[in-house]
Amino acid sequence: MAPIRIDYGNLMAPRVSGGVTAERLNGDLADRFRGAMSAVDERRAAGDFGFFELPYSSEMVAQVTELADGFGQWFQDVVVFGIGGSSLGAKALRDALLGPSWNAQGAEQREHFPRLHVVDNADPFTLEALFKRIDPATTLFNVVSKSGATAETMAQYLVARGRVEAAVGEEKSRGHFLFTTDPARGVLRQIADAEGIPTLSIPENVGGRFSVLSPAGLLPAAVCGVDIEALLRGAATMDERCRTHELAQNPAGVLATLLHEADTEQGRPIHVLMAYADRLRSTTLWFQQLWAESLGKAVTLSGEDRATGPTPISAVGACDQHSLLQLFVEGPQDKVVIFVAVDDPGASVTVPNRHPEIDALAYLGGHTVGELLQKERSATAEALRRTGRPNATIHVPAIEAESVGGLLLLFQAATVIAGALYDVDPLGQPGVELSKELTYGLMGRAGTDMPELADPDPEWIL
Ligand code: PA5
Repeated sequence: MAPIRIDYGNLMAPRVSGGVTAERLNGDLADRFRGAMSAVDERRAAGDFGFFELPYSSEMVAQVTELADGFGQWFQDVVVFGIGGSSLGAKALRDALLGPSWNAQGAEQREHFPRLHVVDNADPFTLEALFKRIDPATTLFNVVSKSGATAETMAQYLVARGRVEAAVGEEKSRGHFLFTTDPARGVLRQIADAEGIPTLSIPENVGGRFSVLSPAGLLPAAVCGVDIEALLRGAATMDERCRTHELAQNPAGVLATLLHEADTEQGRPIHVLMAYADRLRSTTLWFQQLWAESLGKAVTLSGEDRATGPTPISAVGACDQHSLLQLFVEGPQDKVVIFVAVDDPGASVTVPNRHPEIDALAYLGGHTVGELLQKERSATAEALRRTGRPNATIHVPAIEAESVGGLLLLFQAATVIAGALYDVDPLGQPGVELSKELTYGLMGRAGTDMPELADPDPEWIL
């Protein structure tokens, strides 16, 4: 498989006005990057960044494969309950490697692998609609929660447990659940131990948004036939590429350095990830969480109170050329756009030369739809460059397990390097905890107090 490449020419001066100069890239930015890499290496050696080790865990692959093979034969539907980092990775893998229409395909087209539903929100309408589509008696529920405490996921589990028990009885219901959770702690672990429900562990040092290559992402993919070894191989190859302290050789380093520089020195805190492939839509949403929750922090690693963090935006081309691009090209000079281009689109659809006499249609005849998509991306990158808007393109050879593994690792490595550059801890999400605590209080969880909420003020209600 050809390597993933990053074309960052459109972030550089003089190609794009105000871009980074080669002198800086090889000078102070390379020095700063070396410092950041030393900090990343130190935390990696200390075991803080467990996600880096996942691609090398043959034990994890064996466990996931064994369970996936067993369950895949028995169930027609697999439902993943999880939220945030516990669902976005599974969605990214499902949509990239199975395709967004997987569940609409017949059993033969799916080679008798199960349908895969990833349900994150605690929206009753979605949940009810799910139970109208599936038969609990032929469904496996994979409950994914690192903490084993998240209210949305726990509520989904309890609802599903009730439905399965009603369908197959209490005793048999256990065989319809698989928990993916912390190796030792949390309610899911407790229930699993008490009832003999099978589990997979998310290693203690792998946080939610870094868990896509742990059983949280791998089990749902493997149960539907994705080659998880190829996925991890691609991630390992990218990891090797992203270990060098030489900025010009390190793809994650270049991404992190140039996006950090754009934010802190050029006033470009909005980072758009725009993939030209429907199958990568969920990957851009996964990236959005990774970049936002990792880098958006109130306190720096040096202990300084400094609200920090770029704002990521997920986009898909060519669709968002017709919704967001106007803002990108003419709006405030506060953005960097990172395109993802897929060299082999995976299907070839040729446009027939049906109306050669109509100029507005004739130019399309004989070209493929994939060619149109590629040209649209090139044209958009050029339009941005001409209007002084920096952008870069990540070229992925094809949307296959190996390259997707590489792409995910690239973004994860870039995130922890960016954390070091911003001087923030990319792990943890203290800002999310307050709302979780208030929710527990409002729902009457034992050990929490009913919080006082500011009353609605009629003066400000229309
Ligand atoms: O990235 C994170 O850590 C969060 O988005 C979590 O994944 C999310 O809050 C769900 O947490 P848990 O897996 O503990 O249910």
